[in-house]
Formats: sequence, C-alpha cells, structure tokens
Amino acid sequence: MPFTEGRGSGRLRGVSARRYIEVNEWFPGERFEMGREGWNPDEYARFADARRRPFFDLVSLVEPVDAPRVLDVGCGSGVLTAEAHRLLGAATTLGLDSSPAMLGSARPEGVELRQASIPADLPKGPFDVILSNSALNWVDDHAQVFAALTQSLAQKGQLAVQLPSNPESAFSRCCEATARRFGGELGGFVYRSPVATPEFYSALLERLGFERQRVGTWYYPQRHADVAGIVAFARGGLLSPYRARLGDERFEAFVTEYTAALRRELGDGPVFFPLRRSSSSADGEGSGLGEEVRPR
Ligand SMILES: C[S@@+](CC[C@H](N)C(=O)[O-])C[C@H]1O[C@@H](n2cnc3c(N)ncnc32)[C@H](O)[C@@H]1O
Repeated sequence: MPFTEGRGSGRLRGVSARRYIEVNEWFPGERFEMGREGWNPDEYARFADARRRPFFDLVSLVEPVDAPRVLDVGCGSGVLTAEAHRLLGAATTLGLDSSPAMLGSARPEGVELRQASIPADLPKGPFDVILSNSALNWVDDHAQVFAALTQSLAQKGQLAVQLPSNPESAFSRCCEATARRFGGELGGFVYRSPVATPEFYSALLERLGFERQRVGTWYYPQRHADVAGIVAFARGGLLSPYRARLGDERFEAFVTEYTAALRRELGDGPVFFPLRRSSSSADGEGSGLGEEVRPR
C-alpha cells in the first residue's frame, strides 16, 4: 500500500483506493532497474526538435511564481533543464538523472546536475516546482513516486509531469514481440510502460491533496518516410533497456528484427505515428504535504 493514513488519504471521491493499487498489478513483470541503463545521448539528440516540443508544453503548464527553486527529474543532458531555468526565472535549478552517459553529454549554464536515481535518491527539497519530462515512464509504481515527489514540494509547490504512453501502437507492440523472441538473452525482460490512464493521475493528484490540477492527453504527430524513421526515434528511448541488456552486436540484431516486425505491420511506405503523451500538473494549498503522508 503506497500511502500511510493521514492528510490526503480518504479524500478521494468516486474512485476507490483499490484502484490506485491496481496500476501496479496491471504490469506484474520485472521491476525496472535503472542502473542498467542503455541511454545513448547521440541517438537521443537526433530527434531533439520532436523531443523539445513536449518539454516546452509541460513548462507552459507551470504557473509563474517569483524566483522558484526548480527540480528537473530525469533531466537527461540538462539542455532543456537550462531552458526551464531561464523560462521560469528560477532562483536555483537542480537536474537529476540516473544515466552518466546522458548527464555527461553537455554542461548547460546556470543549473546544477547530479547523478541520482528516482525515487531512491530524491532530495527532500523543498522545491517550488518539480518537473519531469518523458522520464518517469522508466520508473515503476507511480502512486509511490508521485507521493515522494509531492513530499519534496514546498507548500503551494507545483508538480508537472509528462509521460509518453503508446502501449497499443505498433511502435510498442512490435518492440514487445521482438523482446519475447530474444527472451532467452534478455532473461525474460520485456519493457512494459508503467504509465496509467489520465483518470488515474487525476485521482492520484486529488488524493495527494493538490487543490488545482490540469491532466490531459496530447498527441505529437510524427511523419516518417518509412519505418526506419520510427526505428531511429526508438533508438533514442524505447530501445534503451535492450541496448543495456544485449551488448552492441546483439542489440543490432534486435533492431533488425524490430524493423522487420514494424515493416510487416506497417508496410514499406510513409508512416504516420501520433505519439501520445499524458501531462499532469498540479498545485495549490494541499501540495507539499510533509511528513504525515510519507509512503511506506
Ligand atoms: C527520454 S529521456 C528525457 C530527458 C529529458 N527530460 C528531456 O526531456 O529531454 C529520459 C531520461 O530519464 C532518465 N531516467 C530514467 N529513469 C530514471 C530514474 N529512475 N532516475 C533518474 N533518471 C531517470 C534517463 O536516464 C534519461 O536521461
């Protein structure tokens, strides 16, 4: 059970507490071990423009406040963290990321970057704004993670999280099918998104005591000349845990099979991929709940 009794508990109307727990039961596979990361900053940067837009949309959900203390969770290279620092007029900005490769790829001005794995290494704060763009989809147990982030917020602090979620798309399904074919080498590992429905995040933010919230689903269309474009995009994100587990040579064999699976499903022509991202932001009197609702 991710919550102790106390402020915030029992405030949920219309959604039973049981519902929160179920999200962890939908995907009973391997827990993610972020130490075994396979991020490649060069592959990630190939689609920098496509990846920047959702970040700026997320930052636009933050209500302006005077000189906030900002935390960016899963900050990657920190290039976008520095943009948030500037746009939000932050007094201080800390970026955390578990991947030395991603952190090592840039030295952005004005922000502090640290290697840290969330939620284990989450600093107490308090922070006025906690952002996380396209990172917590690599972390299991969102009820507990959001609760932990909330506890690092100052009173009236703001939480803004963006999570890509396309489990039913060919992009994800073909990847899972390929992972099953490599099951022996992967020790049975298959990445399944832990991202839940917008209703789940709305109910969770209510339970965490936030006064206001904006939860929505946005689509970021991609147009590729053929499936190779989707594969190139996946190399910078979705395929990372397979790179980490397979080593270079077998990883390329995995990519070849993934490409073939996509081609069987989508054909040889141009591909339209409306990438779905779910965004949640919340703020208000109830945020920064403090000691009384620490997750067990
Ligand atoms: C898709 S990148 C996003 C980077 C950046 N936020 C952006 O928008 O460009 C996801 C990042 O999340 C980081 N990440 C994944 N799991 C993490 C965890 N448990 N703790 C900290 N960082 C994590 C990865 O290392 C990676 O750099």
